[in-house]
Amino acid sequence: MPNWKELLSLDEGGMLQALRQFPEQVERALGLACRVPNGVQGFKNVVVLGMGGSAIAGDLLASFSTLPVVTVRDYELPPWLSGDTFLIAISYSGETEETLVAFREGLRRTRRALALTTGGALAALCEEEEIPWIPVPPGLQPRAALAFLLFPLLGCFSRFGYVRGNPSSVVTILRRLRDACFPDENENVAQSVAKILCGKVPVIYGARTTAPVAYRWKTQINENAKQPAYWMELPELCHNEIVGYELAGKVFPQGIVVFLRTSFDHPRVAKRVEILKEVLSSRGLKFLEVWGEGEDALSQALWLLYFGDWVSFYLALLNGVDPTPVRPIQELKRMLKEP
Ligand code: F6R
Repeated sequence: MPNWKELLSLDEGGMLQALRQFPEQVERALGLACRVPNGVQGFKNVVVLGMGGSAIAGDLLASFSTLPVVTVRDYELPPWLSGDTFLIAISYSGETEETLVAFREGLRRTRRALALTTGGALAALCEEEEIPWIPVPPGLQPRAALAFLLFPLLGCFSRFGYVRGNPSSVVTILRRLRDACFPDENENVAQSVAKILCGKVPVIYGARTTAPVAYRWKTQINENAKQPAYWMELPELCHNEIVGYELAGKVFPQGIVVFLRTSFDHPRVAKRVEILKEVLSSRGLKFLEVWGEGEDALSQALWLLYFGDWVSFYLALLNGVDPTPVRPIQELKRMLKEP
């Protein structure tokens, strides 16, 4: 067993504390939902603008909203965005170029708008344009602030009657999961999964509500553990990616598939997973399955998401890196500012 206690000293940026607080952050963030003015109601669709750790909130909102929600990770907006659209800009720093450009343009087409940010140029733009914005607590990595970027929206959409599931009921299951994954003397299940993934290239598979969760696992493994990881969704991958298994044993021996499962998976998707497991085994490819817990699809998806955050944290420690810094992202942003 790795010396987890010793490995924790790698966490100089304090990711463990941020992870630990997630359930309480969710509770606090639900309290911020009341800041969304009722006046925005009457919209027919939703566009969420954001990048990276901020944008994933849009994907998760889309999974559980009963109205169409599209996440735009780009400078440019869909041509159909109009006065009927609720435009939501999410940027933890408030300085993300793509989000600012698209939001500025979007405000010319709709005044049903909102931003979630710690401040920066995005907050300044909202003040100037008299658009409401929800202040998010500073001092976190954007990806560690997901509770504050997602739950004010889930809470207000729930108030408007546009959410499937009860956002406040997830707090209890997240607390239980935190207690199960927090480091103590015995190795926990998140640490065991991290050990299985160590030295491998994880390929995370989700379906419908767990597709954005699979993407979050991939990005958390990239940013926390500093290693490659990929993702794909069912049933689509049965129509292309599986053909690549033919040579994967030879060219991708370190690949390992992680199936994210819920009891709400479509029965035909569940059958596809069983078949895929046989196909993977026959090609000598490794896989594992992780089942979400909770009473509804929302709880199970968030359980899987939070579990993935823990796995990526422990994987970082096994890789000998501090989970917090994301130097290549900062370096690229700095270079973009150069003339
Ligand atoms: C860093 C991270 C990044 C940022 C992204 C956009 O933790 O997750 O993906 O979220 O570079 O920055 P913000 O969120 O400040 O708009």
